[in-house]
Amino acid sequence: MRHRMGNSILKHLLLHLGLVFVIRRIRAQLPGSWELLLPNAGIASMHTAVTFYGTVILLDRTDIGASNINLPNGACRNDPSDLRLPHDCTAHSVLYDPATNSLRPLTILTDTWCSAGSFLANGTLMQTGGDFDGNNKIRYFSPCPATGSCDWVEATDQFLQNGRWYASNQLLPDGRVIIVGGREVFNVEYIPAAPGEGTFSLPFLSQTHDQEIDNLYPYVHLIPDGNLYIFANRDSILYNYKSNQVIRTYPSIPGEPRNYPSAGSSVMMPLSGSNGYSVAEVLICGGSQFGAFLNPPAQLPASNTCGRITVTDPSASWSMEIMPSPRNMGDMILLPSRDVLLINGAQAGSQGFGLAELPCFNPVLYQPSAGEGLRFMVLTPTTIARMYHSTANLLPDGRILVAGSNPHYYYTFTGDFPTELRLEAFSPEYLSPGLASLRPTIIGAPTSLFYNVEFTITITTPSPITAAIELNLLSTPFTTHSYSQGQRLLQLTALNSVPLGDNTYTVSGIAPPNSIIAPSAYYMLFAVNQGIPSIAVWVQIRG
Ligand SMILES: *[C@@H]1O[C@H](CO)[C@@H](O)[C@H](O)[C@H]1NC(C)=O
Repeated sequence: MRHRMGNSILKHLLLHLGLVFVIRRIRAQLPGSWELLLPNAGIASMHTAVTFYGTVILLDRTDIGASNINLPNGACRNDPSDLRLPHDCTAHSVLYDPATNSLRPLTILTDTWCSAGSFLANGTLMQTGGDFDGNNKIRYFSPCPATGSCDWVEATDQFLQNGRWYASNQLLPDGRVIIVGGREVFNVEYIPAAPGEGTFSLPFLSQTHDQEIDNLYPYVHLIPDGNLYIFANRDSILYNYKSNQVIRTYPSIPGEPRNYPSAGSSVMMPLSGSNGYSVAEVLICGGSQFGAFLNPPAQLPASNTCGRITVTDPSASWSMEIMPSPRNMGDMILLPSRDVLLINGAQAGSQGFGLAELPCFNPVLYQPSAGEGLRFMVLTPTTIARMYHSTANLLPDGRILVAGSNPHYYYTFTGDFPTELRLEAFSPEYLSPGLASLRPTIIGAPTSLFYNVEFTITITTPSPITAAIELNLLSTPFTTHSYSQGQRLLQLTALNSVPLGDNTYTVSGIAPPNSIIAPSAYYMLFAVNQGIPSIAVWVQIRG
């Protein structure tokens, strides 16, 4: 009996060890890897955007008290209306250079809390709104080479017609930017406004406003028919912005509300030259239960669903999928491989200060072209919680820059989920050394692409190519509050590759057909070999 018992304990132990071994193996085998870039970025980035010089603008609010980095040249900011620190010698924006892994402070004056942004055709970031003295501000950042000294310029002769925080911006085919909504603002406006042009009422924004708001940071996608698809709360419309008419309403998404403070995210799936850029699908993942924001102690589980809808289909309906785990405040990133990365966030609660728990440490890959039930893949976890006020942005080298997380009103470095100043990068599996033999290198490319005009790039690969090279263009979005404004991916029509010898090839493609498919701006052009991207080159798409 004793012997048997010992045996069963031994068996149990072995089984346990075996399980541990299996779990270890599974852990070790999860795709992707993390690296800590900087232990202290000086600020917790609430808004992040990558410039066409490859530098990255990190931006927080200004009324948060002292940050961990000083303004340049001993400068100070005097703002009597700043509630926390009227005489403030610290910076609330920095410029990060991935090439040298270094940063320099920038000077932002007015409060950018919960503001919005979009790059313009010339590569300048236009940044709008915020709280307090920033409420109807318009700011510009014209990027410069990494060694330059470019900085924020706040317009003094141009203002938003309505003060806006929690609005969403989208660059339009005519080069203007539409600003959609904002807290208790149920209209749109354009920058620059035409002479005498006012705001345009959009009742959809008040119709989707509920007891916990839920209509903020609406998801705005410019779709191939020239209209805007706008999603707020659980509802969506097709909006002809030129005539200020709602021309279509879509069915409500099943499940939870998805916008701020319920904290889902959304991307327009890649548009493809293979179907004449005629099909637009929208993917929305995660969110919080209605009531999670109103009743924080309940820590209601976050949504575990994604909804996918072909918004260009006359009989569009939601197709729902279950994520491997619940997620709110997750960022969704279009990868050059045409997959979607879900990263950051939490599994319970909602957006807001101290309102979420259970960080999502594991990113998840969504592979849209895989069979149903096979699309999600759980990836290597980080150890750093990235919850409220955190960001994730694709870099031209294919990595994902992860910054911020500050679920507190002020910088707080104690207790649960402290203010996070560390900068990290996540490398998807396509960057793993084992796949290096497939990675193309672009050695020649134009700096401008003209609508519908064929262009040619030159690439080299470590070994002969055995499949068609894809040419994928990615816009550079303004990322805040788990939604990347202006994010789009265009899979160009690529023509045959021509070998030049020594694993060098020319690859020709056709630039996007028009400014509806690709508003004039700087894009990252990736050559992609069997899902493995090159480092991108920046191209300006022009008329
Ligand atoms: C880019 O365009 C914006 C808006 O028209 C303008 O304010 C800015 O000066 C331009 N930047 C450059 C570098 O030309």
